[in-house]
Amino acid sequence: MPAIAGIFFICFSRLFQFWFESMAELAIIGGSGLTRLEVLQETGRQAVDTPFGKPSAPLILGSLDGHSVVFLPRHGDKHTIPPHKVNYRANIWALKQLGVRRIVGIAAVGGIGPDSKPGTIAIPDQIIDYTSGRKHTYFDEGLAHVTHVDFTQPYCEELRCLLMVASSAAGVAVTTGGTYGVTQGPRLETAMEINRMARDGCGLVGMTGMPEAALARELEVRYACCSVVANWAAGRGAGPITMQEIEKNLSTGMKGVIRLLSRLVADIAAD
Ligand code: HPA
Repeated sequence: MPAIAGIFFICFSRLFQFWFESMAELAIIGGSGLTRLEVLQETGRQAVDTPFGKPSAPLILGSLDGHSVVFLPRHGDKHTIPPHKVNYRANIWALKQLGVRRIVGIAAVGGIGPDSKPGTIAIPDQIIDYTSGRKHTYFDEGLAHVTHVDFTQPYCEELRCLLMVASSAAGVAVTTGGTYGVTQGPRLETAMEINRMARDGCGLVGMTGMPEAALARELEVRYACCSVVANWAAGRGAGPITMQEIEKNLSTGMKGVIRLLSRLVADIAAD
């Protein structure tokens, strides 16, 4: 009897996956400040394994205002995985395997440029990668041939546009464009590192934007980043960076992000 129940369960979950694969248009990777997507009506969870190991958490399948969405908390469901330990390859692979075609990565960042005031939302258009030692590519071992992907424009322009249109329809102010400098963490930067990043042209600094964006490109999944400025970057604010200010600004910013995402899924479904 337990064997029959097991077979039934496997068949049912395969059917469910098949149904969801044909439906899920958007995946959201939630960062610090968005470990749970409370507006998502959960319909199931899928613990998946990939050739690169396990993703940060089981994929959360659900419906946002009636539209299918997959949610994955980047730092794990208890926010215990630091940026340099996230299994970015498994995360993107698992979402691709589920049939997702678009991913929005939500990220907490520090503001470097004058436009990047804490609490604001930004949709960057460029990246500078300052990370090191992360498992950053699928084209690594056992290759039939060496592969280089074009990364001139690191984000999907179409998805960025959809985010901008959704933000204006939802009445959520966003700054568009700008360069996201990705640091290794988990420590925050020194004031002089931030000065150097500003000279390099970075307006935002965070720890998770890479290799996430590059891996999505390698798997040909449309990817864009929606970032919430949690604090002034080191040396740009009045004093030291505190966890209280980060939490307060993330909580304000994420409310806008959720409104924006609700509008985005509706727009994608209508498209
Ligand atoms: N630096 C790097 N990552 C961050 C910051 C920061 O100031 N704030 C939030 N994530």
